[in-house]
Amino acid sequence: MISEASATARTAGAPNVTFLTGDFRSTTLAPASFDVVHAHQVLQHLRDPVDALVAMRGLARPGGIVAARDSDYSAMTWSPASRSLERWLEIYLAVTARNGADANAGRWLARWAQQAGFDEVAYTASRWTFATPSDVSWWAELWAERTVASSFARQAVDYGIATTDELATVATGWRTWAAEAGAAFVVPHGEVIAQA
Ligand SMILES: C[S@@+](CC[C@H](N)C(=O)[O-])C[C@H]1O[C@@H](n2cnc3c(N)ncnc32)[C@H](O)[C@@H]1O
Repeated sequence: MISEASATARTAGAPNVTFLTGDFRSTTLAPASFDVVHAHQVLQHLRDPVDALVAMRGLARPGGIVAARDSDYSAMTWSPASRSLERWLEIYLAVTARNGADANAGRWLARWAQQAGFDEVAYTASRWTFATPSDVSWWAELWAERTVASSFARQAVDYGIATTDELATVATGWRTWAAEAGAAFVVPHGEVIAQA
């Protein structure tokens, strides 16, 4: 991802961009030094989203912007109906809850930002829509793969939430669903922009 991002920055004529990896809550980056601190689909994975927003504020300069965007898994919707996709969502929510994170983070961002001590908070929502055959196929393949080979898949089995066989059935179900005529999937997101 870093090499892809670096190539994109070069192509875009932005040679002054530096990409780093690491936990943003324990970074050595200079405090209060960034105009914008943004986390996209990250807080939904954390046990401590409010503390994470506090850490983001610590990196933003006074008057800078802290922004976050997260999905809301329980609000995801699709057609046509699929028992496999319903089971996928049950498994995903159970694994996330077992990890102590909130897969419905999108709906909580305004509240979390207020709890993190931000005074000026703007909350909006938007969505990803997968409705063309190629978009549906891409999304379904992404989740079919993740359902059998990812930390999500490993944890589902380790936590006793699903068996390997069941995960394989769900993955097949994703591909079967994607081949249905007029398949469509909507991923709602909450978004927050707060002033540091
Ligand atoms: C759903 S992915 C989103 C990736 C990317 N931001 C995007 O929107 O395409 C979640 C990402 O959060 C990252 N992540 C989770 N906890 C993190 C932390 N404490 N510090 C930095 N990254 C974290 C994971 O490594 C993963 O890349």
